[in-house]
Amino acid sequence: MSTIHTTATSWFFACKTSDVPTNGGVCVKYKDEQIALFYFARRNEWYATQNLCPHRRQMALSRGMTGTVKDEPKVACPFHKKTFSLKDGRCLSDETECAITTYPVKIVEDRVYIGVDMETAAV
Ligand code: FES
Repeated sequence: MSTIHTTATSWFFACKTSDVPTNGGVCVKYKDEQIALFYFARRNEWYATQNLCPHRRQMALSRGMTGTVKDEPKVACPFHKKTFSLKDGRCLSDETECAITTYPVKIVEDRVYIGVDMETAAV
């Protein structure tokens, strides 16, 4: 008998779309994690990342300034302005800095859901 471990995306309800400021972010709790959720109104795009900035480990990214670099959506940490891609989490301002975790987001009517990996085991 063998056990197969797989990962599946589980969607949790984060908040209503109206809870997120236009072109800004909010912090959402999921279990013990803090997730930064962003809404780019002019592109009608949603992104979610870890809220923890890896530079000095501040829970701050949801309060960061959003924008674009060469059409890539990004957030700049409010502390020392390290900048991270909202698409894949890599640090755009410093190649030596760690990447951040990103999460998929889906909107169903006026509700925002964030996808997290769930490890499942089948025997
Ligand atoms: S703590 Fe975020 S850039 Fe320094």
